[in-house]
Amino acid sequence: MSDFQLVYEDFDPGQEGLREALTSTGNGYFCARGFAEWEDADGTHYPGTYAHGVYDRRTSVLGVQPLPNEDLVNLPNGLVLKLRIEGDEPFALQDVQLLHYRHAYDFRNALLLRELTFRDDQGRETSLHTRRFVSMHRMHQAAIAWDLTPLNWSGNVEVVSAVDGRVVNQGVARYRQLEGRHLDPQGPRIEGNDVIALKARTRQSRIEVALAARTRVFRGDEEVQVVRTTYQTEDYVQQVLAFPVGEAVTTRVEKSLAFYSSRDRGISEPLEAAVKGAARYPRFAEAFQGHLEAWNELWEACDVALPHEESVQFLLRFHTAHLLQVCSRLTSHHDAGVLARGLNGEAYRGHVFWDELFVYPFLNLRLPLISRGLLLYRYRRIGEAREAARAAGYRGAMYPWQSGSDGQEETPTTHLNPISRKWEPDLSRNQRHVGAAIFYAAWHYHLATNDFDFLRDWGAEMMLEIARFWASIAHYDRQRDRWEIHGVMGPDEFHEKYPGSAQGGLRNNAYTNVMAAWIAETAQRVLDLLPASRRAALRARIGLTDEEVDTWRAMSRRMYVPFHADGVISQFEGYEDLEELDWEGLRARHGNIQRLDRILRAEGDDPNRYKAAKQADTLMLFYLFPDIELKRLFEQLGYDLRDDVVGRTIDYYDRRTSHGSTLSLIVHAGVLASIDPASSYERFLSALHSDVDDIQGGTTAEGIHTGVMAGTLDLVQRIYLGAEIHDGVVFFKPRLLGRLDGLSLLMQFRGTPIRVLVQGQELSVEALEEGFSQPVSVGVGKVVCELGAGQQCSFTLGSTVEIA
Ligand code: BGC
Repeated sequence: MSDFQLVYEDFDPGQEGLREALTSTGNGYFCARGFAEWEDADGTHYPGTYAHGVYDRRTSVLGVQPLPNEDLVNLPNGLVLKLRIEGDEPFALQDVQLLHYRHAYDFRNALLLRELTFRDDQGRETSLHTRRFVSMHRMHQAAIAWDLTPLNWSGNVEVVSAVDGRVVNQGVARYRQLEGRHLDPQGPRIEGNDVIALKARTRQSRIEVALAARTRVFRGDEEVQVVRTTYQTEDYVQQVLAFPVGEAVTTRVEKSLAFYSSRDRGISEPLEAAVKGAARYPRFAEAFQGHLEAWNELWEACDVALPHEESVQFLLRFHTAHLLQVCSRLTSHHDAGVLARGLNGEAYRGHVFWDELFVYPFLNLRLPLISRGLLLYRYRRIGEAREAARAAGYRGAMYPWQSGSDGQEETPTTHLNPISRKWEPDLSRNQRHVGAAIFYAAWHYHLATNDFDFLRDWGAEMMLEIARFWASIAHYDRQRDRWEIHGVMGPDEFHEKYPGSAQGGLRNNAYTNVMAAWIAETAQRVLDLLPASRRAALRARIGLTDEEVDTWRAMSRRMYVPFHADGVISQFEGYEDLEELDWEGLRARHGNIQRLDRILRAEGDDPNRYKAAKQADTLMLFYLFPDIELKRLFEQLGYDLRDDVVGRTIDYYDRRTSHGSTLSLIVHAGVLASIDPASSYERFLSALHSDVDDIQGGTTAEGIHTGVMAGTLDLVQRIYLGAEIHDGVVFFKPRLLGRLDGLSLLMQFRGTPIRVLVQGQELSVEALEEGFSQPVSVGVGKVVCELGAGQQCSFTLGSTVEIA
């Protein structure tokens, strides 16, 4: 492990899938797994390339059951580069003796490296150094450089450079029974002497994708004259470059790839654009320089420096790089949402869930333009959300639990249990709280940026429509004199329904109800923020009535929240009557029980029966809202949220959560920070390690966890540094000061960059002159100061701050 490099010093076939995901390289537009260019898809290697928005729907027939399914499409592999020595079979890792092997991901520069020395069965020893990146500078470009050196031989080699359109989606074993063929070939093209290209079209969504590649050979600065032979079929094109190599002489092979799709703007036609791009791109070194400078800029904005916590520092940067590979400045050129599993695997089929909730806080305060673009993904799909609400008998916008191309509900109705190999019903679409997450995200984007144009033109409409949905799904219970919501489920996916019930959904999920109350209150503020004419026009256009606004008022005061007899908040009504799970027994029998739902179901049991959560549900409230704000919300609802209730509620669920979703580690780390800093930090470390160590045993190979990676960064910023925005002021309330010493980060607050530094007991904030747009207010406790350009203020932190 070096400062910015994730390094593997051996080739381990069993780990290769995981390593491919962790060393993937992307630019927020398209991304390729860190596969070796010369390997084909088999049980070990999985060359996968994905781009935002390239989805395709197929219907599979399982038995007699038609199952519609929308996938993020595995694109043709344009990075193929194989080596043949003296006409032998192309070299493959499994067939040679590796004398030296190093597979690394330089995440400072989003660069994939493989350095190897191998001996083949003829005793020839060869050294191959490969580098590859997907350009953060030229959005459509990827480039490979090979340095090839025969160590004890001279002779003839052939380099096979191909664009392979024969790929299918088969990256996730659980989904292999489903139709994975998404591409119809549209034919190859050869341009000039050295550009090969291929076009394909997705079968249902009819998105055209085109990849063009140019491969050249150099010795020093001189291009080597090679003999080129081309072979093409409708879905595959290759060029073989033959040339002699000499002992101890290094030959450079460079492949430059252009990827375009018919969803791109500013082009005539994707194949033409790709061919032009590949022919024009500069050589590797120059292209890499541009890429590097683009990353320099990103790091300046995004680096969270924590110099005294070496391994934490390493992983925070690793997460920053991966996050930016999924959501970068380039993403805002596209219609792209926050993909829960990044752009480097096929888990959850590339769908968009509520995970964006964990991603925005970091982006809002650094690169708000990215947040804006991602929120617009939701805005553009408001029509489908309205239709979904209407079809279910509600008003407003009901966003889908899983979203893909057009925002219709993409949650499968059945899911393969990998333990029992049985297809089980999936009721998780009843997680209506996804709409609450979108509302929360849009509102907090507004607080961080004061981007009034966004609010006026898009955000308000989306938020008001979401608030209308909540008002229409809620009903008033006269006996209780409370508003209630039935038939939904919270984030905890172990509880989809009451045990034995034929119907999905639960009554009064506390998290959902409190979010609905908060939304009902905040929607009124959104209305007030709009200029009168815009407000009237928007209300008229969406048909928002006074009666609905009255309902918001009532809901914000009288939503029902269930409690256990001892005052602990109930995850949902009736939760207290469920059975206790035998955690120890289950652990003793199965070891890792994070996904105890699968275990129980495979045993014929039902997780709905037990007081056991997959992930934070009720505790989400303590994670999303600062203590004072949550107490105020409860008080407004007529409930007294005493400190002891908070403590007991956190403890209650902390004991009963398996963290079957690693998002849960983030939330628990967050809520424990002020009451048990040591445990909080432990969860934070688990979350930091969750992907790099694949703690769920196989999930990361299917795609990194975007929300968790961003969540770790948010924990540092919002929980440990305690950065919260109220009334136009960023307040800091650092916790775990002992860990934060030396923390330095940059934030963009309402257009002004501020540098925050923690040193010992001192926190200082400086408004930078460069990029300054307006004075900003920052505060600690009751002390608030306003900073003009270049001004700085320091706070001595009180002795009440916890030190872990
Ligand atoms: C979690 C969800 C999450 C999804 C995608 C599931 O395992 O339970 O909360 O949205 O993964 O990350």
